[in-house]
Formats: sequence, C-alpha cells, structure tokens
Amino acid sequence: MPSHRRKIVAGNWKMNLDRSRVTELAEAVVGRSQEAGGVELVLCPPGVYLGTVGAALKIVDRTSPSGVALGGQNMHDKASGAFTGEVAPPMLVDLGCRYVILGHSERRSLFGETDAIVNAKTKAALAAGLTPIVCVGESLEEREGGRTQAVVTAQVRGSLAGLSPSDLERIVVAYEPVWAIGTGKVATPAQAQEVHALIRGLLASLASPEVAGRVRIQYGGSVKPDNAADLAAQPDIDGALVGGASLKADDFLGIAAAFR
Ligand code: PGA
Repeated sequence: MPSHRRKIVAGNWKMNLDRSRVTELAEAVVGRSQEAGGVELVLCPPGVYLGTVGAALKIVDRTSPSGVALGGQNMHDKASGAFTGEVAPPMLVDLGCRYVILGHSERRSLFGETDAIVNAKTKAALAAGLTPIVCVGESLEEREGGRTQAVVTAQVRGSLAGLSPSDLERIVVAYEPVWAIGTGKVATPAQAQEVHALIRGLLASLASPEVAGRVRIQYGGSVKPDNAADLAAQPDIDGALVGGASLKADDFLGIAAAFR
C-alpha cells in the first residue's frame, strides 16, 4: 500500500562552507525547489549561518515562499542560561527554524551525547515547537556482532522515552548506520528497510500502529542521486538525511527528486 507520509529530504551541511557559499547554495536550492515535486526540503547549515540562510530562503514566521524549511544541527535542552557556547531551542525558532537534528552520530561519538541527553533535547525541541529529527544507528562493530536490532531498539526507546503519542507523531526519525556515514558505503535498500520496519514497530509499541504509520523515517549514510531511487522504493523509507551530497545543489535536488 503506498504511504501517505510526505517525503522529507534534509541537507546536513555539518561544519562546512562559508557565508558566501551558504548563500549561493541556499539560493540554488530555492531557485530549483520545484524539481523536488512534493518532497519537503530542509536545509541545516552551521548554526552561525542560520540567519544568513534564513534570509536567502526569505523566511518570515518560519515559512519560506519556496516551502524550503530551515533546521538546526544541534541545540541545548535549556531555554536560556549560563551555558557558554550553546544555542537554545527558542533561538532556533527565532531564526526561522522548523527542524533540528538531534543525536546525530557525530554528536553521540565525538561530543558524548547519550540517549538521555538526546531524550532531554527531544522534549525541549517539541516544547519549543520544533520538529526534532532524532538520529539513531549502529556502528560497524555492532552490525558485525549481530547487535544492530538491540542497539537501534535501545537508542529509539532511550531517545524517545516519556514522549506521548501526540509528541511521537510530531517527530522525524533518521536511521543512519554509522558505518555508512561519509564512507561511500550505503546500506543496501534491504538492510535499510529492515531497520526502518523495526523502528516503525517500536513506534507502534510506544504509541499505536496509527501513529507509527504517520511518522516519517529518513535514511542517512552516503545517500547519492544514483542510490536514492532504490532506497526511496522501500515502503518504510520516507526520505533522506544527506551529508556530503547536500553540499551540491545538483546532488541534493537529484536525491529529493528520487523520493517524488
Ligand atoms: P553522508 O552523511 O551523507 O555524508 O554520509 C550523512 C549524515 O551524517 O547525516
């Protein structure tokens, strides 16, 4: 049965580009956003350039005329206070963000983010009116040790603990196997679909099958225009979280077009 979930493709620009290049890339995506058809597009630039990209998207009240949305790559879970160097959820909202990536594997492995921290941030994002894109995924060692299901299950349960069914309905989940991120080694469509189905089953047990059926689950990890169509054909893959390929408008839009 074809799903009614609106597909969503987000570009995670990570710590790349500069002020003029973020403007150029955002303008290129906006100018060609119709190539994505009905697929929702989200741009997640480095935090210091959110205002610059928001201006390029002509965002007013978190809405851009092109429909391209803005997202943060991370945030703190407190709304304000003495947290030197951090960014608060209402600040992302203030700059026009609708989305925020949380618990990306780089945050987990390089900056010590645990499921408990991701859980606190997820709740804070929802409270601020942001849609969290909650990332989960196993390492190569975990996959080779046959622990993929256990690891992803623990991450989903831990990161989403205590969320009500109506909260769960508002989130996006990104399955990003760590071994596929930035390596050029994409998961096979069957490997990805298997974990996406697992995640949807977990969401059903946390909320209900109806709610789980409405949650969008993105795949991330070396998504490129030439492998996107096979991923998009899987019943539980509702879009992509794209790193490297999102730095080129052609590649990003080519991926989005594959999800139309
Ligand atoms: P990649 O990154 O597309 O460069 O593999 C994906 C991600 O980290 O979100």
